[in-house]
Amino acid sequence: MLTLGVLASGRGSNFQSIIDSIESGFIRAKISVLITDNPNAYAIERAGKHNIEPIVLKPKDFPDKNAYYFRIAEELEKRGVGLVILAGFMRVVGKALINKYRNRIMNIHPALLPSFPGLHGQKQAVDYGTQISGCTVHFVDEGMDTGPIIIQAAVPAYHDDTEETLSERILKQEHRIFPYAIKLYSEGRLSVDGRKVIIKGSREDSVLINPPYSNPSH
Ligand code: GAR
Repeated sequence: MLTLGVLASGRGSNFQSIIDSIESGFIRAKISVLITDNPNAYAIERAGKHNIEPIVLKPKDFPDKNAYYFRIAEELEKRGVGLVILAGFMRVVGKALINKYRNRIMNIHPALLPSFPGLHGQKQAVDYGTQISGCTVHFVDEGMDTGPIIIQAAVPAYHDDTEETLSERILKQEHRIFPYAIKLYSEGRLSVDGRKVIIKGSREDSVLINPPYSNPSH
């Protein structure tokens, strides 16, 4: 069975949606560890409620970025992690981790990439005045939110949206597409060809705008 390691910095609602999707049987996988850079992250409490080991690793306790991500990779490998999930992990991941987990690290970003990478993707969309926004699950490469796109979901953005109202609309879709992407991976249905992710199976799965997921918990 696929073993997941989750990295999260805060609230952890995406982490929770993945836990729920495993517990409901939607995804066949287990989560062996939560690694956080933030000792106050609510994600730690969520881990505790579901018997997932939490580890706090603060970058400032390491000599440099390389040492930090080397240690994270060690912790993941030690636990047999096959797929690394960035669930609101608010840092650009270092090479020491990417090299060991090439095309095996997934991130969720609250915008339709390549628009609005980096922090506050929702605010960037509100400020820009786009009428369609959404979220993206992608594999992580060395760039900032630049890796191959796995799934996107779109939502409308209205002229009177605030960062909060748009974020809430996007978050509902995040909680659907992230578990779905993990499910596809766990079933061996994802492969990467250059910038493109190929999804084995039905063609509709490769163009996903608010798709009819069968995850009963969402
Ligand atoms: C989510 O909206 C996620 O897309 C975003 O942070 C939020 C975390 O929420 N991630 C990024 O902006 C990464 N650059 P959560 O802690 O409740 O899952």
